[in-house]
Amino acid sequence: MPQRPAEAAGREGGYAVAETERLPVPDPCLLVIFGASGDLTRRKLVPALLELHREQLLPGEFAVLGVSRTPYTDASFRDLLAAAAREELGHGFDGTVWETFAPRLFYHAGDILDAEGFPALRDRVRALCAARGIRGNLLFYLSLAPKHYAPAVRGIGASGLSTPEEAVPGFRRVVIEKPFGDDLASAKSLSSEVSAVFREEQVFLIDHYLGKETVQNLLVFRFSNGIFEPLWNRNYIDHVQITMAEDIGVGSRGDYYDGAGAVRDMLQNPLLQLLALVAMEPPISLSANDVRDEKLKLLRSVEGAPADRLGEMCVRGQYAAGTVRGQAVPAYRAEKGVPPGSLTETYAAARFTVDNWRWGGVPFYVRSGKRLAARASEIAIRFRPAPYLLFEHTACGQMESNLLVLNIQPDEGIFLQFGAKSPGPAVCVQPVHFRFSYEQAFGAKSPPAYGRLLLDAMLGDATLFPRRDIVEVSWGLLEPFLARWRENPGRDLHFYPAGSWGPREADALLAREGRQWRTP
Ligand code: BG6
Repeated sequence: MPQRPAEAAGREGGYAVAETERLPVPDPCLLVIFGASGDLTRRKLVPALLELHREQLLPGEFAVLGVSRTPYTDASFRDLLAAAAREELGHGFDGTVWETFAPRLFYHAGDILDAEGFPALRDRVRALCAARGIRGNLLFYLSLAPKHYAPAVRGIGASGLSTPEEAVPGFRRVVIEKPFGDDLASAKSLSSEVSAVFREEQVFLIDHYLGKETVQNLLVFRFSNGIFEPLWNRNYIDHVQITMAEDIGVGSRGDYYDGAGAVRDMLQNPLLQLLALVAMEPPISLSANDVRDEKLKLLRSVEGAPADRLGEMCVRGQYAAGTVRGQAVPAYRAEKGVPPGSLTETYAAARFTVDNWRWGGVPFYVRSGKRLAARASEIAIRFRPAPYLLFEHTACGQMESNLLVLNIQPDEGIFLQFGAKSPGPAVCVQPVHFRFSYEQAFGAKSPPAYGRLLLDAMLGDATLFPRRDIVEVSWGLLEPFLARWRENPGRDLHFYPAGSWGPREADALLAREGRQWRTP
């Protein structure tokens, strides 16, 4: 059925995404970042905003108010962010653009745990909105330790900041970083705290992975190409592997990370989100709720692990000292901010199946880890072998079945592997590839995911943000494992040398079924 332009554009607010059309500019807005002196603001949010500013995608009346405890002034806050952006962007840092962007940055020293400090923040917000001609529209960004989300939301609510008023009318929205809760019960309780202040459509649960171009392309790849969809099911697909591997360690985030670990930091979100995007049915439209309804339905079809096989279905690991790209690196337990006896996992691998007609019996193996052999995120779809292996006993050894790899990073692209006869008198079948590279095809690297998501939050488009019911279903899937580890925190934790592909026990997860992990 032909779509109306706004539907075709895929935005609830009705703006177009086609390159040829002008990108939308949000309404005037004040972005209030809680936790503004932290790593995320310096390394990700501000460079992304700078890029939006450079592209003229921010409204004319736009400002950022950073809030945290450190006593910066507006000027020293700008200096801090300039230094960080310079470091993050390297040669991409443009001093002239920064000069026009910096006057949009402001700072307010305050402690979100001190409820009495919120009225002063509210006064600052009012004054700033008046001075900058921002008639309303406040976007709150919680770039905080997860345990501070609830107090921050309470403070915003109690001080009246969440309620439009004459001086500051317009929308109120809140962006909350993952992990949202640290298990099902805490996610539900946080959800009710948030609901006491914000309605569902005002809440944007951010996971920057979902803003990556290659992740956004998953739905386009699946549902705009007629040739793959007929194969996308248990009749043709043997199994799926989703990998998110990092070669870096926890860096300066030991404090946060040790309270989270790979299962909460990556498996709950974004790995399960990727699984949903790979496996879900086509949504009836691209509106935020239609897309998220399909994701929810899919995740509700994921089969829970049998109680007597939990130890086999999810493998945890922690990196020991090792060598990464020729450099000796310390063990996780020796990292800054990590207790020496920490039992937190830096690696997690799990096997899921989806109990529906499309996927019955197809395993989905997912894994993520830090200090692995390489930085690589990909989704690998292994097809079933040809029904009759005519060329099985040729001179060149075992034949591989077809493979489709969606590379999320760093080599953004897609490749399809198939067998071809290598030249020569012998019949010899070799794997060869069709390859698509984003950079070659579109001539540029993808824009930063945070920029896209910040823009969407300002525009009120929640398509790329997981809804709370989806997050709760994901926690529900992990709950049996979390309960098992709450009971015995060291259980199922295996050590792996930094620079390897994770613990040996993770290989067994696939080997048990006659399969093996792909090396990206
Ligand atoms: C974040 C995780 O969501 O993603 C981090 O909290 C991880 O632990 C990061 O390092 C990886 O993101 P990227 O974009 O650098 O691959």
